[in-house]
Amino acid sequence: RIVYVNGSYVPEEEAKVSVFDRAFLMADGIYEVTTVVGGKLIDFAGHMARLGRSLAALKMTPPADTEALLAIHRELVVRNGLDEGLIYLQVSRGSADRDFSFPPEGTPPTLVLFTQKVAVLERESVRSGIKVASVPDLRWGLRDIKTVQLLYPSMAKMEAKSKGADDAWMVESDGTVTEGSSNNAYIITKAGTLVTRALSHAILHGITRLAVLRLARETGLTVEERSFTLDEAKDAREAFITSASAFVTPVVSIDGQRIGDGTPGETTKRMREIYIAESL
Ligand code: PDD
Repeated sequence: RIVYVNGSYVPEEEAKVSVFDRAFLMADGIYEVTTVVGGKLIDFAGHMARLGRSLAALKMTPPADTEALLAIHRELVVRNGLDEGLIYLQVSRGSADRDFSFPPEGTPPTLVLFTQKVAVLERESVRSGIKVASVPDLRWGLRDIKTVQLLYPSMAKMEAKSKGADDAWMVESDGTVTEGSSNNAYIITKAGTLVTRALSHAILHGITRLAVLRLARETGLTVEERSFTLDEAKDAREAFITSASAFVTPVVSIDGQRIGDGTPGETTKRMREIYIAESL
């Protein structure tokens, strides 16, 4: 693979980042994941808008403007012959001697991008749906900033897997579901209403979420952006998740309890088709 590091395209074995990099020492970095299908970037503008918000929230210097970042994304697609997969972008506050204070102004940010060849359109998880297990949401409070502090979500996913599930749904102490380990969470109630948690610091503001909610409203679904409890979710007619890589992926059980008839729901399948038709 050819990866991008601070202005250079190099084979992955030759890529170098300092051991003093703030992302490495302090998780002082942010990231974006943009999906590629047929060599085309999906919702690049949305991902760059959120990158801008993460940078601003952490007072980080933008590593490049959006046009330059688009050029790098496109160059990596070409150099790696990427037809279907993901492009990962990470920005850190740069490298400086270890200190809890931010490095002096003018310290250049670190910018890294690489591609991952993965199937996006045809996935077993879409055909059969995924099982989720609940875990307490023990992440920090600013989950709307897309930081590289992914240890807890990673632990949550492993915990879910140890219970025989595919992913975790994280739950606040009040019993409401926040989101999946790396995706947003939705239910469709028995009355047919699409419910997903409202935007706040409690969840990442998914770019796929934005598109899916717009498309759901356009198709005439009733959409409620509000918190829902684990109990309400277990009683739902359908459930699903969204993310850049999962698009819309059905959830067929929660903590071992079947959702609907235990197969991917009709509305979920339709939302996936509509999302794909609109985005590609
Ligand atoms: N994850 N919630 C969390 C906690 C996430 O990490 C993600 C994305 C989402 C969905 O956001 P979007 O629709 O913009 O991808 C929600 C990426 C894909 C990842 O970490 O790989």
